Amino acid sequence: MAKDFDAMEDSNRSANPSIHDISDPARRVWLQGGLVVLAGAALGPLVAGCATGPKVGAPLLGFKGVPVSTADGITVPEGYVASVIAAWGEPIGVPGNMPAWREDASASAADQAVQMGMHHDGIHFYPLTGSSTRGLLAMNHEYSDDGLLHADGMKTWSAEKVKKAQAAHGVAVIEVERRGDAWAMVRPSPYARRFTASTPFAIGGPAAGHALMKTAADPAGRTALGTFNNCASGQTPWGTYLSGEENFSGYFGLGDAKPSPHQQRWGLRKTGFYRWEEHDERFDAARHPNEFNRFGWVVEIDPMDPASTPVKRTALGRAAHEGAWVAVTKDGRAVVYSGEDARFEYIYKFVSRDRIAPAGNGLTRAQANRELLDHGTLYVARFDADGSGRWLPLVHDTGPLTAANGFNDAGEVVIKARQASDALGATKMDRPEWLAIDQKTREVYCTLTNNTSRGAKDQPGTDAANPRANNTMGEIIRWKEEGDFDATAMRWDHLVFAGDPANERADAKGNVRGDIFGCPDGLTLDARGVMWIQTDAHATQMNKGEFARIGNNQMLAMDRASGEVRRFLTGPVNCEITGVALTPDGTTMFINVQHPGETPSDRSDPAEPGKFSKWPTGGRPRSATVVIRRVDGGVIGA
Ligand code: FEO
Ligand code: CA
Ligand code: CA
Repeated sequence: MAKDFDAMEDSNRSANPSIHDISDPARRVWLQGGLVVLAGAALGPLVAGCATGPKVGAPLLGFKGVPVSTADGITVPEGYVASVIAAWGEPIGVPGNMPAWREDASASAADQAVQMGMHHDGIHFYPLTGSSTRGLLAMNHEYSDDGLLHADGMKTWSAEKVKKAQAAHGVAVIEVERRGDAWAMVRPSPYARRFTASTPFAIGGPAAGHALMKTAADPAGRTALGTFNNCASGQTPWGTYLSGEENFSGYFGLGDAKPSPHQQRWGLRKTGFYRWEEHDERFDAARHPNEFNRFGWVVEIDPMDPASTPVKRTALGRAAHEGAWVAVTKDGRAVVYSGEDARFEYIYKFVSRDRIAPAGNGLTRAQANRELLDHGTLYVARFDADGSGRWLPLVHDTGPLTAANGFNDAGEVVIKARQASDALGATKMDRPEWLAIDQKTREVYCTLTNNTSRGAKDQPGTDAANPRANNTMGEIIRWKEEGDFDATAMRWDHLVFAGDPANERADAKGNVRGDIFGCPDGLTLDARGVMWIQTDAHATQMNKGEFARIGNNQMLAMDRASGEVRRFLTGPVNCEITGVALTPDGTTMFINVQHPGETPSDRSDPAEPGKFSKWPTGGRPRSATVVIRRVDGGVIGA
């Protein structure tokens, strides 16, 4: 998210970027009234079923890079076409309940609960019957911009508005299909489903039923209502969707009560950023202190089973989780990597106790593994100056994690994972965002998006893994496990430092070979080994200062062997590009455009919707999914 609380705290928000014309219409994606957009007039129709694979011996990156852009639209390479589906407010396709988008934002909370949420983020494709032309998309709706969500913005505030904001959060599952040249939502669909800030979630793992998880409404401590600030996502080998609850603390307000050390360590404030506590007492942390502990988890959803109960997987630890990504050991156990997108927080991995089970006995693979992520060992990373690293176990009664130090049991260790990691001496990182895993080489990559507090007064200084003071640009760190993915030792280095060599400040130059970028966030390795990098520079940074030559947020492709980075896509004004999924045949790519037209002050009441961006429908700016295809139907990026 661009609007993480870290960034919001210190950003000095000022002028909005101006919207310029772009010079090359052949590369431009224009909106033509509806949600379908076409790139350039010269492009012919896509031909179904004519997918061409990469040529043997062909370079990994086969497209012509695009220049930086400050335009309010999508740019893709020559020979590619982009279209928009599933924008915020579109009905998801619940049978008999499909309220249409209303440009004046007059939809009710009940309408919003069966429409696409706001602020699309992590996304995955689940093929139906193994198909690359029909499947489900599961995606996150990270947060709400209440200035845009309500007809009169935030001029008034009410319980109904809180309900609508809660319904705009969470996760969506929709069915999509390629019809001829274009993808479309399938509506109605039996799979269409929304998870919001009110949906019941089971609690699994060591914190289930823990005293710190019990509330007046849930005295058993085993069912939490809702998920929110879902940022990045992962797809498990057993067919489920993992979603990280990121900046959860901003949804709670403590009022004038004195925060406990635990609440302070997790950033609980007097006033919730989203003002939910004013009309929903669940978010009043003075009245219901344990409700706060029921967020900050990785949640698991089975998109293929509309009747399934989603679960919060507490064995993976509590954190401002960006997301969660799964590797598999040689003997078939799951290893889940996860970072905490916050300044000076940590990188974790969880190793399952059991092996991934096959489908059988009437159970799908997802059902056969419904408790896999509830049992295992959680570790936190320490990156040492000599290029080695250790995974430190967060195991109760091991090392400092004892009752004498405030960790009474395994549940308290995962609920207080930050305090446990502090005690273990883990490395405080520069905002770990997405991870990508090379299952063959056992290399793992993590974007460290930025940390402008590194080296500031009273803040930690630089270290070998986070070597830049006032780290505006971010980098990608990588490590290789010493052995299998369950190893407790690794070797690490940096894949690339983002930046612009034309910058004066040494720490803002970076070492990018090829097209420059800043603030890497989304990260994915595709089946051919292309590393896709998505950026999230804040609206207050974009196209000025050290970012003057970097343009709008974008997606790039990297050939890890040569180190070359090539720009593949640029996004509209003040958006971030986030989330990427490919069909199994690699010929369709889905990405998300989040918060086009983000206001410089974040969630302020914009004087007019669309003041900073009118993407994608020419009016109120809307996060949306962008579908990218090659005109010749070939593999994306090849
Ligand atoms: Fe929601 Fe860490 O970006
Ligand atoms: Ca981000
Ligand atoms: Ca992110």
